Amino acid sequence: MSAWTRKDLLTIRELDRNEIELILQTGRTFKELLSRPGRKSNSLEGRTVVNLFVEPSTRTRTSFELAARRLGADVVSIDSESSSFRKGETLKDTGLVLQAMHADFVILRHSAAGAPGFLAERLKAHLVNAGDGAHEHPTQALLDVFTIQERLGEKRDWKDLHVVICGDILFSRVARSNVWALTKLGARVTLVGPTTLVPELFSELGVTVAHDFDSVLLDADVIMLLRIQHERQRRSFFPSVGEYVSLFGLNLDRFKRCKPGVLIMHPGPINRGVEIASELADCPNSTVLDQVQNGLAVRMAVLHLLGGRENPASP
Ligand code: CP
Repeated sequence: MSAWTRKDLLTIRELDRNEIELILQTGRTFKELLSRPGRKSNSLEGRTVVNLFVEPSTRTRTSFELAARRLGADVVSIDSESSSFRKGETLKDTGLVLQAMHADFVILRHSAAGAPGFLAERLKAHLVNAGDGAHEHPTQALLDVFTIQERLGEKRDWKDLHVVICGDILFSRVARSNVWALTKLGARVTLVGPTTLVPELFSELGVTVAHDFDSVLLDADVIMLLRIQHERQRRSFFPSVGEYVSLFGLNLDRFKRCKPGVLIMHPGPINRGVEIASELADCPNSTVLDQVQNGLAVRMAVLHLLGGRENPASP
């Protein structure tokens, strides 16, 4: 497997299969390290990681912060409400301020697609995209494929897997990053949802586009449900929440018709009773909390590969 050469992690689209596999393999090393009581790595000792979150987050922000601490870094977290963004300071000027303070890594979540790339071109620090508008959320897709592989077994060939992603695809950065990750690994992907939220154009990404959830879920090995991203929609894309739930919600009746070992995934936050019935979010087939847990190991892997010491996880 080749060595990591990139300064930044901006998209899954730009990665090749070897790079994705390298992150997964490194993530497994860190997951093993985390299972040992009190074990930490010194990979980022003496380095400064800044979490710059200009959009809300619970999972991504917390796990990047924990990941950086577990790697021995100094960590600072900034959000839009309590920073000089509120006074009109630009993203570029904020980045230059962080550079003047010798930030080695900037983890950026922003509502504008391309914001992490914009900053990556202007700063010496390693930039990590923690979600940019409806564009990409690369570490979410990496922890998702890590979780699929962990649950179904490393020996299971990606070519034999059918992953159905259901819901608001149009506004979902998680869907885009997962489509890139899953298709590069070789999985078969179906995107399903209302015609307004799953345009035919997506088939150009090498996936199947469908609008009848019942007809595609029978053959699914993995069903990934997505939240309706109201914060990015300026109008309504379906007649009512009730109609959406009846056509695209994963309920017990639909679950009973799925393959017995089907994985139920959701990046969170969940709208219980809308895209997923509450009891299914908590059932043994659900990977919702595995995904959260694996986010820590995968984000440690990403930070380490981008700029860590050579051999950090050895006991
Ligand atoms: N999945 C995800 O990105 O969740 P947060 O918005 O809580 O970080």
